[in-house]
Amino acid sequence: MKLKNGFCIGLLFSAFFIVGRTNAQLIPAPQKLIRQKGAFLLNTHTKLYTNLEGKEKILFDEYLHSLPIRLQDGNGKEDTNIIKLIISPLHATSDKEAYRLCVQPDKIEVTANTGAGLFYGFQTLLQLSHSEKHIPCMEIEDKPRFAYRGFMLDVSRHFFPKDFILKMLDILAYYKLNVFHFHLADTGGWRIEMDKFPNLTKMTAYRPAENLGEWWKMGNVFCSKEDAGAYGGFYTKEDIREIIHYATSRHITVIPEIDLPGHSRDVLCAYPDLACDKRNYLNSNELCIGKEETFRFCEKILEEIMELFPCDYIHIGGDEANRNIWNACPDCRRRMQEEQMESVVDLQNYFTNRIEKFLHAHGKTMIGWDEILDGDVSKRAVVMSWREEIDGGGEAIRRGHSVIMSPTSHCYLDYYQDKPATQPTAFGYIPLEKTYGFEPVPPTTTDSSLILGVQGNLWTEHVPTASHAEYMAFPRMLAIAEVGWTDSNKKSYPDFYKRVLQATDYLESKGFHPFRITDEEGPRPEAKKPIQHLAVGKKVTYLKPHNMDDLKGAGELTLTDGWLGDWGAYGSRWQGYYGDMDVVIDLDSVQQIHSVKASFMQVPPAGLWTPGQFEIYVSEDGESYRALYEKTCRTDDTVKYEIYQQGWQGEAQARYIRLRAMRDLSWGNIICDEIIVQ
Ligand code: ACM
Ligand code: ZN
Repeated sequence: MKLKNGFCIGLLFSAFFIVGRTNAQLIPAPQKLIRQKGAFLLNTHTKLYTNLEGKEKILFDEYLHSLPIRLQDGNGKEDTNIIKLIISPLHATSDKEAYRLCVQPDKIEVTANTGAGLFYGFQTLLQLSHSEKHIPCMEIEDKPRFAYRGFMLDVSRHFFPKDFILKMLDILAYYKLNVFHFHLADTGGWRIEMDKFPNLTKMTAYRPAENLGEWWKMGNVFCSKEDAGAYGGFYTKEDIREIIHYATSRHITVIPEIDLPGHSRDVLCAYPDLACDKRNYLNSNELCIGKEETFRFCEKILEEIMELFPCDYIHIGGDEANRNIWNACPDCRRRMQEEQMESVVDLQNYFTNRIEKFLHAHGKTMIGWDEILDGDVSKRAVVMSWREEIDGGGEAIRRGHSVIMSPTSHCYLDYYQDKPATQPTAFGYIPLEKTYGFEPVPPTTTDSSLILGVQGNLWTEHVPTASHAEYMAFPRMLAIAEVGWTDSNKKSYPDFYKRVLQATDYLESKGFHPFRITDEEGPRPEAKKPIQHLAVGKKVTYLKPHNMDDLKGAGELTLTDGWLGDWGAYGSRWQGYYGDMDVVIDLDSVQQIHSVKASFMQVPPAGLWTPGQFEIYVSEDGESYRALYEKTCRTDDTVKYEIYQQGWQGEAQARYIRLRAMRDLSWGNIICDEIIVQ
């Protein structure tokens, strides 16, 4: 057995002792593992036999060849020092990805119903043998909890070269993930060669700045590859075929996403005729749904996509369209009139259903982000749930749709994984333990068979390089792998944590740059337990509404529930205001107070800013107020992340406390977690 880079098997299986904590090596944890006495010794004479045939055998051989190991060819009759991979019906299950692995002193046997099952048994074997040449005898019976276990990469905001995609596919397979969701087109650039629409890559695959913030200051205009300082790239059809082939030999399905009809500024820059207002196309992200030309474009694009991607699914995005733009367009309004639609929600639904029918006629199943549920979308459509605040997953199931669970709260890999001050710029806060704790089946689910599985999403607004993408993806993708594969009653975070330590070493040995969980500082210390103060449980009156849908906190209790927020804004602790915050707390009786404090979070990438003006007033009767405190401070837009506490200290009598926090920048939003009165 020889390693690709000139190492030898002795190095690969160097430690000469029997693994004490076998289970501790495997991610995802298998459903059932029984240790037995003895061990199988892997050595240079170990043979491999498989009864795989035809295309599956060719693909597996190709895959084996790509590994840094060499096994001699064996035959089915041999029974010593041999690894056998045998397709044979399993008694316990008909699951396509199930396998049984039996390690005995003289042979290792993997049996499975299909090639996919054999492949996963082989991955288990690779994990077991990674650092030990003695593989302890054991029996594993294993199968995934969910059929869909995905990873999404946004290659539009930043472009990632083909070799990086292949490297990711290798590691996804190693952890038994089986879907690569390829987010190929978005506002940051179009990334796939299209024969019928060459302008897409010619005009919008490159931009004059890598950094999106800098690019924004330049007016988000694209440039051509030849321009000095051009940043970007795209995949040729040949690249795509290579990626799909590589993925197929690793039992990974590649699902393409072309985000429509929103997130389409890239398309409009190449084909302004598809905008509602062609003269003003630079200011919109949405395709015009009124024009037939839009449908001709989408269908031709999707035809080319379907020709390239053999998978059953095509993802059409559908998220975050600014639907108001269609109200102002004569073509869109005419369409709405003709089709007797009441609103632009119906208009987007018309678009979605027309595209769905087209895909269905070509034998494909459409996937859309959960905004497709805003309309009466065809039941055939699969929903990809991402907005936890609308319970997109639960709603999809109630309406009879198959659903893939990828809620922002647990599955967004572009969020901070530790205390923001220690991390590169990101959005909210999702530590490994939170991702690991994700339960894809909502408690009220009536039909869990509609839940296809789970997916981790890596959006790349702030992720410019491959090593940064690895850092954001790992180890959290390992948690997604286990959420997707292992039954929830067999999961344990402390046990997983130990396995992550080993996996991190493995990832680094393979040239990845994971976040080291041993460096983790953990949640915001002040937010670990509730605090006592005079306003806890007291009524809050909102003179201005708390009106950010995804930042409702715990509703009207948020500011006086005794809980400070964690590093991330989303969840039940922080409450958001588009514009200013203006609230009154009623302490129920006049009291002597010594301090009033509130904290605000600044996260510019999420549009959250600390206030520019902060005022506190008090009153004994709720009618006449006197000013207690006033502070003006310019918002510092160079601060990438901060939780900033403001407040007053002194002596005062008050029953009512009014607190106003006004934004400094005209477009910022304010969030607050608690008003602490002492
Ligand atoms: C999304 O995060 N806009 C799907
Ligand atoms: Zn229009």
